[in-house]
Amino acid sequence: MSVSTVSIKDRTAVVTGAGSARGIGRATAHALAAAGWNVAILDLDEAGAKDAANDVAERHGVQAVGVGCDITDDASVDTALAVVADTVPPVGALVNNAGITSPVPFLEVTGEEWERIFAVNIRGSFNVTRRLAPGMAERGFGRIVFLSSVSAERGGGVFGGVAYSAAKAGQLGFARALARELGPHGVTVNSVAPGLIDTDITAGKLVGEREKQVLAGVPVGRKGRVADVADLITYLCRAESGYITGATYDVNGGAHIH
Ligand SMILES: NC(=O)c1ccc[n+]([C@@H]2O[C@H](COP(=O)([O-])OP(=O)(O)OC[C@H]3O[C@@H](n4cnc5c(N)ncnc54)[C@H](O)[C@@H]3O)[C@@H](O)[C@H]2O)c1
Repeated sequence: MSVSTVSIKDRTAVVTGAGSARGIGRATAHALAAAGWNVAILDLDEAGAKDAANDVAERHGVQAVGVGCDITDDASVDTALAVVADTVPPVGALVNNAGITSPVPFLEVTGEEWERIFAVNIRGSFNVTRRLAPGMAERGFGRIVFLSSVSAERGGGVFGGVAYSAAKAGQLGFARALARELGPHGVTVNSVAPGLIDTDITAGKLVGEREKQVLAGVPVGRKGRVADVADLITYLCRAESGYITGATYDVNGGAHIH
């Protein structure tokens, strides 16, 4: 399918984890809708997902649906995606944004904690991607974006520990290999790797001296804003961005330059 025949106004972008009010996913849902995408939001927090969808539809005049969904659970993902298929236009983009972090040091980490982090960041991304990629490939158009992290590239050093860094690095390999397989079907797959972004993911645990230390390592001298990340994701989802695939985009204020 050529770029000129694809209109994102006839497509839906699925954003996981866009329920949290100050999160990257919510800002991304708004940015995508502002660009013309219809939006579907899947979040563990059902009320948050519905609130986000209402807000997006109201502000941007696109179709939007919010569904409660635990992306680690196969049945829950099946049910949520059935609702999406029934209510909004075909899926043209997926933003694998839902994620959780953990600062537990490696010498203290339990197997359960390790699994918990991988369940959302890796298995959860797999659960959603595995179900949406075939439709995108069949229609000859798709955009998939993973939310990795600077922690994957520099080996932690912000907030997340080894489990988080390993899971986020796993997403990079996932995205790169998938880009190779789906390229022939018109589906691009990219990752964004944010540095410290001002959201609630650390649950208020990155403050005071610790926050100052992290910011001292950020050349632009501030935390990132959710819009900084949302804009980049929206750019990667454009129909015109079809020659960008298998790439990782840093959005970290210079915290890691390589
Ligand atoms: N904030 C940062 O500094 C930062 C930096 C690098 C990467 N990231 C990544 O960006 C993404 C978004 O982060 P954020 O800071 O906006 O986080 P956030 O905590 O504000 O939002 C995460 C959302 O994911 C949802 N979620 C968690 N587990 C889920 C599950 N099992 N099923 C469905 N939804 C689930 C939560 O309910 C929440 O709405 C994450 O993948 C995170 O790892 C964030």
